[in-house]
Amino acid sequence: MLSSATTRADEPRGHAESWWREGVIYQVYPRSFQDSDGDGVGDLAGIQKRLGYLARLGVDAIWLNPFYPSPMLDFGYDVCDHADVDPLFGTLADFDALLADAHAHGLRVLIDFVPNHTSSEHSWFRDARSSRTSSKRDWYFWRDPRPDGSPPNNWASPFGGSQWTLDERSGQYYLHTFHPEQPDLNWRNPDVERAMLDVLRFWLERGVDGFRIDVANFVLKDPQLRDNPPNPTAGTSSYKYLGHYDTQLHLHDKGHPDCHPLYRRIRRLLDSYSRDGSDRIALGEIHLYEWPEWTRHWAAYYGEQLDELHLPLNFTLVGLRWQADAFRAAVDEIEAVLPAGAWPNLALGSHDESRIATRIGREQAKVAIMLLLSLRGTPILYYGDELGMEDVAVPVDCARDPFGLLDPALGRDPERTPMQWDDGPNAGFCPAGVQPWLPLADNHAAVNVARQRDDPDSPLALTKRLLSARRSIAALRRGDYEPLDAPGGCFAYLRTLEGERVLVALNYREEALELLLPDRGRILVSCRPGRDGELVGRTLHLQSNEGCLLEVGESRTSKGVSTPIAAAEG
Ligand code: GLC
Ligand code: MG
Repeated sequence: MLSSATTRADEPRGHAESWWREGVIYQVYPRSFQDSDGDGVGDLAGIQKRLGYLARLGVDAIWLNPFYPSPMLDFGYDVCDHADVDPLFGTLADFDALLADAHAHGLRVLIDFVPNHTSSEHSWFRDARSSRTSSKRDWYFWRDPRPDGSPPNNWASPFGGSQWTLDERSGQYYLHTFHPEQPDLNWRNPDVERAMLDVLRFWLERGVDGFRIDVANFVLKDPQLRDNPPNPTAGTSSYKYLGHYDTQLHLHDKGHPDCHPLYRRIRRLLDSYSRDGSDRIALGEIHLYEWPEWTRHWAAYYGEQLDELHLPLNFTLVGLRWQADAFRAAVDEIEAVLPAGAWPNLALGSHDESRIATRIGREQAKVAIMLLLSLRGTPILYYGDELGMEDVAVPVDCARDPFGLLDPALGRDPERTPMQWDDGPNAGFCPAGVQPWLPLADNHAAVNVARQRDDPDSPLALTKRLLSARRSIAALRRGDYEPLDAPGGCFAYLRTLEGERVLVALNYREEALELLLPDRGRILVSCRPGRDGELVGRTLHLQSNEGCLLEVGESRTSKGVSTPIAAAEG
């Protein structure tokens, strides 16, 4: 019997109070989305011009990487003024216009909040650096050298070398987790917390819907600044290997338990702005990948009473090999450590990670998008991944990212290249004759929005079909997740909500696969075009690298009991 599950095509966008659970967040890297003034760098007015595209694509929110005044050594993560817009990107009025227009398009807007450090050009740091007696001195970390002149402790920076730089003028070292031009703020000083919470208020008053909090768990450190111990598992974490940084277990320079009460205070502030049942949210970047049992520590950032971050970012999927059992194990583990009532989130990429299509392959990346948009949790989709954009080899002499200058293998320029809109000059990103800030992909004439819009076999068409299925089927947005035991190379699960049951079967293999389903079904979306709507008996045929979402009949098992699906005979 076919399911009685109803698909409500015209259901309005997610309920206001849970937009961040049911919605899809699209990450926009402002430098690379759309240039509007012909300087080869994307800007806020450019993003505004493309809101129609995003609304038609069917996402619910955008997250903008930093657009604040900055020397751009770390491309905006070195902030000079948290409450303004860098002229490269426009003006505050441009931001207000973008925000209003996004809201008019039904899109929420999250902005990047960078609490751990400022630029060394920030007036606070310039003041702090001016003398040992500056009233801002304690807003940053200053320590005397050790007797032999060496830095105060052994903390290694992910950008290479020590986290300490000697300030010749005052004879003291200052702390910078990242680049020496990104000094760390001392959040144990109440004036710093007050000033930074005022930054949040500034943007909340303007109407933003929330914040992506940069390296959220780095802000409070061991008060005694003790040395980090060696990392006994250096190089084995699934996250990328960061060389010298990874030789230490970063127990004392990040993840201090005092982060938790801070995020409770920040949550209270956000809640105080969550009017009309419309939550203002915190999506916090949590890096703890080398810690023993890191997922447990990650989950703690939801707060025991779910009173800290709405969504502590989880990059587990980014670090995995493209193997069905690895993905199932990772998803099951995330589900297992989540506090009761907490809501997962998922990402396949970001401005810091090699693109998914490059990591696993073009066809595989389509299966991955299906996974991202059908698992339980808020998907965060990186711009261009809906087109299957790939990393672009940026010649060493054009490298811009400080990471890449340190080690070309770690460079993040390849995943930050301009969005590919059409097959015109500069792919529609910036006018003809203008040099984009990073080179365009060689394949931009073939891989772009205009081309893919009309191609049913394209990643863009698939992404749209998936987003529209999410919109019409509540089980995909808020249903339970029930993994199914499936043959090797296949990851399969059910999403269930009341009468609605969607079975997801993803073939990770290069060979075709036949599956015996627990019930008959109807294909909602397949990675292969032309199959949508197909009725399937109990045998589902999947081609290599094919994934399918199927509406299936009432279960013969009860919730929580794994329903095995077998490889079909012959
Ligand atoms: C975060 C950002 C990354 C930046 C770093 C320092 O990890 O995502 O791009 O370089 O913080 O701010
Ligand atoms: Mg521009």
